[in-house]
Amino acid sequence: MKIAVYPGSFDPVTNGHLDIIERSSRIFDKVIVSILKNSSKAPMFSVEERLTLLRKVTRNLSNVEVDSFSGLLVNYLKQKEAEVIIKGLRAVSDFEYEFQMALMNNKLNPKIETLFMMTSSKYSYLSSSIVRELASLGGCLKELVPEEIIPDIHNKVRHARGGA
Ligand code: PNS
Repeated sequence: MKIAVYPGSFDPVTNGHLDIIERSSRIFDKVIVSILKNSSKAPMFSVEERLTLLRKVTRNLSNVEVDSFSGLLVNYLKQKEAEVIIKGLRAVSDFEYEFQMALMNNKLNPKIETLFMMTSSKYSYLSSSIVRELASLGGCLKELVPEEIIPDIHNKVRHARGGA
């Protein structure tokens, strides 16, 4: 059974992430989308909330699992009996950091491969941070994130502002 892990912050999951999840789920027997816990970044959504959003948008993909992890990614892969890390690449600017991470992960465990998937061109400008900024400024999120989580994002912004 070929198992791959798609790690990230997913704060929140975007249509760019979902595109990578769908495409990789056609290649692997099982894809585990896993959220890094204890990241130094101050998140908009808690890990529990991000798990819920990811589960909502992947519920129709039967070979996709949603989980969270802490510590080294390579150790998590071993625990899950996975040998492939999936990463999305949007632009050349993503490459240097991702290349460094892939080489480090391969040094930590030479059995681990990183598979880079080019994002679909229509999502090349998209990131969770852009979505957070747009949402906080009241912009339209249509076509940027899955429809069913747009109300969750707007609610989060409203609550952060102290609204009802
Ligand atoms: O969506 P992001 O924030 O770019 O995801 C980054 C992530 C979670 C893939 C990366 O930070 C990670 O793998 N962290 C786990 C710690 C680790 O194994 N680092 C690599 C070796 S130092």
